[in-house]
Amino acid sequence: MIQPLRGMKDLTFEQSERFVHIIKTSIEIAKRYGYSYIETPILEETALFKRSVGESSDIVGKEMYQFEDKGGSDVCMRPEGTAGVVRAFVSAKLDRQPIKQKFYYYGAMFRYERPQKGRLRSFHQFGCESFGESLVYEDFSLISMVAQIFDTLGISYELQINSLGCPECMPYYKKQLIEFLTHISEDLCEDCNRRMVTNPIRVLDCKNETCQSLLVTSPKLINQLCESCDTDFKKLTSLLDSAKIAYKVNTNLVRGLDYYSKTAFEFISTEIGAQSAIAGGGRYDRLVEFLDGKPTPAVGFAIGIERIMELVKMPESQKIGIYLGAMCKEAIESLFFIATTLRQNHKVTLEYSAKGFKSHMKGVDKINPCFAILIGEDELQNGKVWIKNLETQEESTVLIEEIEEKIKN
Ligand code: HAM
Repeated sequence: MIQPLRGMKDLTFEQSERFVHIIKTSIEIAKRYGYSYIETPILEETALFKRSVGESSDIVGKEMYQFEDKGGSDVCMRPEGTAGVVRAFVSAKLDRQPIKQKFYYYGAMFRYERPQKGRLRSFHQFGCESFGESLVYEDFSLISMVAQIFDTLGISYELQINSLGCPECMPYYKKQLIEFLTHISEDLCEDCNRRMVTNPIRVLDCKNETCQSLLVTSPKLINQLCESCDTDFKKLTSLLDSAKIAYKVNTNLVRGLDYYSKTAFEFISTEIGAQSAIAGGGRYDRLVEFLDGKPTPAVGFAIGIERIMELVKMPESQKIGIYLGAMCKEAIESLFFIATTLRQNHKVTLEYSAKGFKSHMKGVDKINPCFAILIGEDELQNGKVWIKNLETQEESTVLIEEIEEKIKN
């Protein structure tokens, strides 16, 4: 039997219900913030991710589903959504329009990671990207949108924030950090020694405990931000304070993608084990330009759908729709006509085989409809149906033409 690939999952029944509920809730909230839907291809030129996510990142370095297509192009299944959205933004020349643009998206992302709980090779994100706004109010607005989505879904979280500086303050800090790391390099793990050369900032979020204990005294960028970054970071914290959104400043939060500057944030859950980041994002003011667009400030986030799946408090299932069943073979065809009429306005589940009252009612219990409608021999002869309102438990027999009226009442 052919099974799904390692680290990839099918979603059915309760799981797919949860998935749809998360996406629907997120879309509804994103629309309230002025976001419109964008759909971009899953497959893109590999160069897109190399240039945006960064060659030194783990995603590009080790985790890409990269291959040569039949025409010889070097292509890659998207490991994240931001790069494709920025590419689409530039391709459509939206960078040349004076208005601000806000997009939301959702879909499958692919990373060839070692699968474990909460870490899949094919997973889904819901994300938002906002273009053209340099004011930190937008960073706050996106963070509060994620908070609102999680609050609505009944998910508790810890918000962590940091500032990754800008081309003015980051290079100076990097120099200091490299100096510090060089002194302790012998005691740092292999990964950190490699990162010291490729991307020293990433050393800060090493998961190795020994490395973390050595990094306690490392220089902190947050204490050396330039005036503009410092003012923005202070404004962001004061906005979060006023909105009563609790947060923790995590000076080691650097994010695994290279395109960020200034605000970086992550939402963490304490209830799902080691892979605890349930959403992440930040500002990426230089990415549009890196991808050949006009310099355009931008900020965004993505939520990991599978990571929050078990945390979501599902609304109580409501009775929806109509169950239609026949108790004799002769009645089945008339049910088709009734179903066609009712489907103009209602969800209808039609049972094709004739069976007894009790077995129909077992089927009704499974799908939880609002009404059960059955036709037996007597009803068929009189042009009537038996109808039960499953909320009020009221039962009656009505003429076929009067079903809609009965339901409305
Ligand atoms: P990211 O932090 O790489 O950011 O991913 C966002 C979220 O996707 C994570 O917080 C996590 O919940 C989920 N996720 C990541 N990898 C996996 C995996 N292997 N299995 C299951 N879930 C996973 C980004 O992707 C950025 N594009 C976010 C962004 C948008 N920044 C600005 N705009």
